[in-house]
Amino acid sequence: MLRFLITCLCLVWASSALADPSFKATSPDGKIMVEVGSSFGEATYQISRAGKPVITRSKMGFLFTNAPKFDRSLSAISHTTRSFDETWDLPWGEAKSIRNRFNELSVTFEDGRGAPRQFSVTFRIYDDGVGFRYNFPDQPNLKQVAISEEMTEFNLAEDGTAWWQPAGEWNRYEYLYNRTPIREVGQAHTPMTVRTKSGLHLSFHEAALVDYSSMWLRHAGGTRFISTLSPSSRGAKVVRTAPFSTPWRTIQISDDAAGLVTSHLILNLNEPNALGDVSWVKPYKYVGIWWEMHINKSTWGSGPKHGATTENAKRYIDFAAEHGFRGVLIEGWNTGWDGDWFGGETGFDFTTAYPDFDLKAVTDYAKSKGVHLVGHHETAANIANYEPQMEAAFALYERLGVDSVKTGYVADAGGARYRDANGHIVFEWHDGQEAVRHHLRVVETAARHKIAINAHEPIKDTGLRRTYPNWVSREGARGQEYNAWGNPENPPEHEVNLVFTRMLAGPMDFTPGIFAINPTQKGHRARTTIAKQLALYVTLYSPIQMAADLPEHYLANPRPFQFIKDVPVDWSETRALNGEVGDFVTIARKDRASDNWYLGALTDEHARRLRVPLTFLDAGRTYKAQIYRDGPKADWDKNPLDIVIEEKMVTRDQVLDIRLAPGGGQAIRFVAQ
Ligand code: NOJ
Ligand code: CA
Repeated sequence: MLRFLITCLCLVWASSALADPSFKATSPDGKIMVEVGSSFGEATYQISRAGKPVITRSKMGFLFTNAPKFDRSLSAISHTTRSFDETWDLPWGEAKSIRNRFNELSVTFEDGRGAPRQFSVTFRIYDDGVGFRYNFPDQPNLKQVAISEEMTEFNLAEDGTAWWQPAGEWNRYEYLYNRTPIREVGQAHTPMTVRTKSGLHLSFHEAALVDYSSMWLRHAGGTRFISTLSPSSRGAKVVRTAPFSTPWRTIQISDDAAGLVTSHLILNLNEPNALGDVSWVKPYKYVGIWWEMHINKSTWGSGPKHGATTENAKRYIDFAAEHGFRGVLIEGWNTGWDGDWFGGETGFDFTTAYPDFDLKAVTDYAKSKGVHLVGHHETAANIANYEPQMEAAFALYERLGVDSVKTGYVADAGGARYRDANGHIVFEWHDGQEAVRHHLRVVETAARHKIAINAHEPIKDTGLRRTYPNWVSREGARGQEYNAWGNPENPPEHEVNLVFTRMLAGPMDFTPGIFAINPTQKGHRARTTIAKQLALYVTLYSPIQMAADLPEHYLANPRPFQFIKDVPVDWSETRALNGEVGDFVTIARKDRASDNWYLGALTDEHARRLRVPLTFLDAGRTYKAQIYRDGPKADWDKNPLDIVIEEKMVTRDQVLDIRLAPGGGQAIRFVAQ
C-alpha cells in the first residue's frame, strides 16, 4: 500500500513537473536554438543547430557545503529575453573590431524545498555558439555561497573524436594533446575540441573566469560530460557572497575546423575594457637571455655560466637594436635561482640583482638604444613569497622604464603556495579560485604601474584581455621550451593541435623561431622544418612574439631571419583559409600598420599539398609575395633546413599551390604594391 502511494505521489509530482514551461531562444541567424526549463524538478537546457540536436537535455545545478543542493526540486518560474548588437574595437589584437551580436534568454529557477531560494541562468546565443552563466541573486536564504561542486552537464547528441588534455594531473596544461573517441576522454581541461561523426566542430571552454574556480570536464560515460571545479584547500571549491555570477560556460559550434579559429565568442562574453586609456600597452617582438639557459649553455643561477650578466645583456640589446626588436627579456637577473627553486623553496627576491648584473646600467643602456627590457618574475608558484613583494617589484620596473613583465609559476599542479587567513601556508592548484584571484591581482597591480603581463604556467585564458588589455599573452600549453629538454620533444603535429585547441582560448607566448635544428644535433631538437618555424609567427597568434633562438643562429641564417624581422604582431583582420584539427591549417592576417598581408601554413608529420585561393587579398591590388617555403628535400627529421625563398607578383585572382614537407610549413609576406 505504502509503495502504491509513493508511486502515485511520484507520478503526480512528475506530471506536474513535466508541465513546467520551457523557454526558447535562437541565434540572430535563427540556426542555433536553446531550450531551457525544468522537468522532474531538474533545471535543464538543450541546444540544437539547423534542427539537429547538438546538446541533448542536460542538467544544471550545484552542491554546497553550507546549504542544501540545487538539484532535484527546481522549477523554472520566469524568464526574460533581449537582443544585443554592437561592434567594439580592440586596442591590439588579431582583428581591429569585433561584432558582438546575440539573443539572450534568462531563466529563473526556484528551489521549492524549505526556505525559498533562487538562481537564474543567462544564455547568450550567437551565430557561432552559446554561452551561459549562473547568477546568484542577493537573497536572505543563500547569502554566503560555498560551492562544493558545480553540476553542469554537457550531453553531446552525437559521438565523435575529441582533442583534449588531462585535468587534475601534475603537469598543469603541459601535456601533449590526446586525440581519442569521445568515449575515451578522461577528465579534461578546456578548451576541449570535438568533431562529431557528422562533421560538426565544437569547442567547450569558459569565458570571464573571475573569482571562481576553473571548470574541468569530467567524462561521465557515453557522450556525457559534467563540470568539476578545480579543488581548494578550504574544502568548498568556490566561496562567494551573493550577488554574483559564475563564468560563462561556452560551446562554440562550427561546420568546419577553420570556423573555430575565427570565432570571437569568448572575447564577446567578457566585459569591456576596465582600464581606460591603454595606449601604453604595446605589441612587440623580443629576443632574450632565455633559450641559452634552456639548452644548458648558461644558467639562471649565479656562477661561471650565469646568463644574466650586464655584459651579456648589452650584447642582446645591441642585437635587438640592430635588427628592430623592441624587447629584450632577461631571466635570472634577480637572486633566488641558486638551489632547488622549482616549487618555490628558495624564495625569489624580485628587487635584488645578482652582483654581476647592474639593472640600472642595463635599462639605461637599453633606453639609449631604443630598446625595452622585458622584466621577469619567476615566482615558482610561491605566491606567499611573491605577493608581499609585488608592489615594490612593479614600482622598481616602472621607475626603470620596463613596461612589460613575464611572470612564471613553475611548480607541480596542486603545489602552489598561498598564505591562508590564519597566516599558514596552504597548497593550492594552479587553476583554483585562489589562483584565479591571484592572477587578477597581478594584472591589476601591473596596470597601476602601466605594465603588461605575460604569464607562464598561468591560469588558462578565458578572454580577460578584453577587460584587462595589459594581460597580453601567456603560456598555458607545451611551448617551444619542450624542444630544448622535453621528454619527448613536441611532435610535428603539436602546433596544428594547438591552433584548434589551446589557441581558441587566446594568445600564446609559444616562443617560435628556433633555427638550430640540425639533424645531426645531439640530444634534443625541434621536430620542424625552418620554414615551419617562420609560419608559427602567423598561425600562433600573440601580440608579443619572441625570436627565441640565439643571436648567432639568426646571424648565420640572415635570409629566413628576414621574415621574423618583417612579420607584424598586430593585425586588422584574420582569415582561417583551411584546416583539420591536428593535421594542417592555413591562416592569413592583415597587418594593422600597412596594407600588407601575411600567410602561415602548417602541417603535421605528413607532407601535404594545399590549393589556396588568394581571394583574401584586397581587390584591385598587386602584391609582391615573398615566399618562404619548404625546399624540395625538406623533412623535419632528415633535412629541416632545406628552405626556398622566392618572390613573385600575385593578385587575389590567383590560386597558390602550397607544398608542405613532413613536419613543414610555409610563410608568405604579401607586400602591397
Ligand atoms: C618556465 C617558463 O615557461 C620559461 O619560459 C622560463 O624560462 C622558466 N620557467 C624559468 O622562469
Ligand atoms: Ca613553461
